[in-house]
Amino acid sequence: MVNAIQPPSQNTTTRPRISFLGCGYLGATYAICFAELGYEVVGFDVDAAKIESFNTGVLPMHEPGLPELLKKNLESGRLRFTTDVQAVADFADVHFICVGTPQRKGEHGADLSYIETAVVNLSKHLSRKVLIVGKSTVPVGTAQWVQELVDRHAPEGLGVEVGWSPEFLQESNAMHDVLRPNRIVYASQSEWASQLLKDVHRGILELAAVEDREVPVVETDLATAELVKVAANAFLATKISFINAMADLSEAAGADVVDLARAIGYDQRIGNRFLRAGIGFGGGCLPKDIRALSARAGELGVGESFRFLDEVDSVNTRRRTHTVRAVADLAGRTSGPNGPDLSGVRIAYLGATFKPDTDDIRDSPALDIARRLRSARADVVVYDPEGLENAKAYAPELSFVKTLAEAVADADVVCAMVPWEEFRTLDPEALGRQVAERRILDGMNAFDPEQWRKHGWSYQGIGR
Ligand code: UDX
Repeated sequence: MVNAIQPPSQNTTTRPRISFLGCGYLGATYAICFAELGYEVVGFDVDAAKIESFNTGVLPMHEPGLPELLKKNLESGRLRFTTDVQAVADFADVHFICVGTPQRKGEHGADLSYIETAVVNLSKHLSRKVLIVGKSTVPVGTAQWVQELVDRHAPEGLGVEVGWSPEFLQESNAMHDVLRPNRIVYASQSEWASQLLKDVHRGILELAAVEDREVPVVETDLATAELVKVAANAFLATKISFINAMADLSEAAGADVVDLARAIGYDQRIGNRFLRAGIGFGGGCLPKDIRALSARAGELGVGESFRFLDEVDSVNTRRRTHTVRAVADLAGRTSGPNGPDLSGVRIAYLGATFKPDTDDIRDSPALDIARRLRSARADVVVYDPEGLENAKAYAPELSFVKTLAEAVADADVVCAMVPWEEFRTLDPEALGRQVAERRILDGMNAFDPEQWRKHGWSYQGIGR
């Protein structure tokens, strides 16, 4: 359901025109939501097919609520998308850089080449003073380098400035996180830029005021703004690996990590979110961000202080081998030095995306475990509500089916891996009638073990 927003009045002196460069999950969501907040917005991307799709009102990704908002704001005339960088340079007062910063091949550091291309390209086409604001997640020090790029490539004497404003949106909740963020963070290098950043965020604060909420604003320096994002993600990743380590201990000691997480989470100093033990974290952010942070800390001479992040990463990766072993145990197969031999075992594999309510499969633990099970010669039949297309392209060796019923038919083991609503609400008795054997690996820790056992299932959760 989209909560309709009345765009505030359009006072152009306090409503800068905005561009978002890079229309992936991040840039597209921002462009659409800022149009919804009443700003005039253009989204830029080099991918012509994607731009065409946006302009015809078709969101080329799965993100709840966003398709409706895209259509509405295209119709309002405040939103458009283009591949024409000159048009973008002429249009906007503030340009947000939202391109990807993936992990460099064979290294832990971030690949900044998309940022470089976007900034250089834009700078060359500018003809007036504007503000360029980084949103992409980057190693600390990048903003300074971006300013140098701008100084080198923008026409002389324009005085173009660089600012930074990290984002914290979670895929599957992206629209809410942009329109109603729990904080705004930005950095600038002058009074002029600071005022522009205030004006750019005014719409969010006005919406908050209407809804009787407060959104804290942290204005800081460039380096801190860059660090805030990676620090937040590293902290979240650490929390997840902590609870997954406790899951291992719980399994070894015969305890239940789900109850444990609930019990410690009531302490507000700890908090109950991001304490779900399972198959580990994935996605386009957490895994690469902790590696990039650790690599950058090393470059700056403080690598030792971040060694624990390498362990956070290892705990997370070990979830995958651990889960393969758990499936083998359920199937009654022993594991040798090369892992188990699962030939002849038909697995109904539920979930391929890195989390529910997205079609994003980047660094998806579920998909990686599916591939490992296939390498162990299992017959892996994958079903996912939205991620099938992306998963098929990435892991063609797996079998994919379009319905849950096809996946579970005659299965020897059911692996429920991603907590989509459709999986969390499975009924043990009805499901039991479709499978060959009542064995379930609950990688989501979403089921009541007693309930399933009562219906004759061999149930295995994670850390319980
Ligand atoms: C993350 C940050 O949450 C967000 O603030 C930032 O802007 C981008 O990176 P996202 O990658 O969309 O967002 O996913 P998130 O919801 O954080 O989940 C990351 C991974 O952790 C998923 O694989 C998820 O399944 C896993 N996870 C999350 C757990 O394993 N346990 C938990 O308790 C929570």
